[in-house]
Amino acid sequence: MASAWSGSTWAACAGIGPEICTRKVVGVKILLDEDELRAGVAEMAQKIAAFYGDRPLTIVAIMTGSLVLLADLSRQLLMPVRISLIQASSYRGGTQSGQLWLRDDMMLDVRGRDVMVLDDIFDTGKTLSAVLGCVAQMGPNTLTSAVLLHKLGRQVVDLEPDFVAFHIPDEFVVGYGLDYQDLYRNLPYLAVLETHDIENSPESQLSSS
Ligand code: IMP
Ligand code: MG
Repeated sequence: MASAWSGSTWAACAGIGPEICTRKVVGVKILLDEDELRAGVAEMAQKIAAFYGDRPLTIVAIMTGSLVLLADLSRQLLMPVRISLIQASSYRGGTQSGQLWLRDDMMLDVRGRDVMVLDDIFDTGKTLSAVLGCVAQMGPNTLTSAVLLHKLGRQVVDLEPDFVAFHIPDEFVVGYGLDYQDLYRNLPYLAVLETHDIENSPESQLSSS
């Protein structure tokens, strides 16, 4: 399992090339660049493939943060894959966890299926725990979970995701599907959103104007 919490990752950030710099809209702390993300997702795909073999798999992707991961991960899986969506939201605009709501009217029938719930990040764990509880009631044959990121030191639930691509420090991160106020999901890398980035973000400027 790869870890983003290493000196070499931070040191690598100093060498950001001009191409990446021109695409940057937030602070300079790139936690995981495109190559690192690609390698971590490929490694997780191999573990999922080894676990399921040829068995058909239904992926339940938690919207919206897991969509970029879903696109990259699902294309590396060779077993028959069905893709189902469920929407969960805990951050209502800011960086603090709030009330969780779920919307499951886009779900496929998962009764009797091997199901893997997919999310962008395991932070407190409340979202994944709630979604797993909801999907479990739908009668799957087996149920696992996979996340791109596991934020260290934040967990409040007694649950560990089955597949994790990266462990990261307790920082608010954006990019590769993760957002701040619905922005930055399209960044191809994962960046730490710092206080001055939040103050200077387009949404903050809109709301203060
Ligand atoms: P949890 O319920 O606290 O585990 O939070 C999970 C959800 O919160 C994720 O699906 C994300 O949408 C969001 N989230 C948690 N940490 C971050 C972050 O660092 N950046 C962006 N979104 C986050
Ligand atoms: Mg989010």
